[in-house]
Amino acid sequence: MPIVRFLLPDGSEQALEVAVGTSLMEAARQEGIEGIVAECGGGAICGTCHVHLQREYFDRLEPAGMTESALLQVVPEASETSRLSCQVIMSEELADMCVRVPAVQLEL
Ligand code: FES
Repeated sequence: MPIVRFLLPDGSEQALEVAVGTSLMEAARQEGIEGIVAECGGGAICGTCHVHLQREYFDRLEPAGMTESALLQVVPEASETSRLSCQVIMSEELADMCVRVPAVQLEL
């Protein structure tokens, strides 16, 4: 299974095997990655699963949809390579990606 490394705000790193077809958020929640709150369970409506991707991997994804884009404008610590991890579906193309978890997630 492809590996994704999550960089946590405290500087530590956690590597996860993520099945192709699974969202990053689902994998992170199953493994208890701290900082991925995912209050809406993957509906792209809470913004609490925000992560930063590396540019090269960000560019391999389909652009964010309207709802995701709107949320990404209001999440704390937004960057040019921000995505909602519930909308990033694992593929072989994303193997070895490194994902940074922001220190703060949106509070509803
Ligand atoms: S889990 Fe709510 S937006 Fe991703």
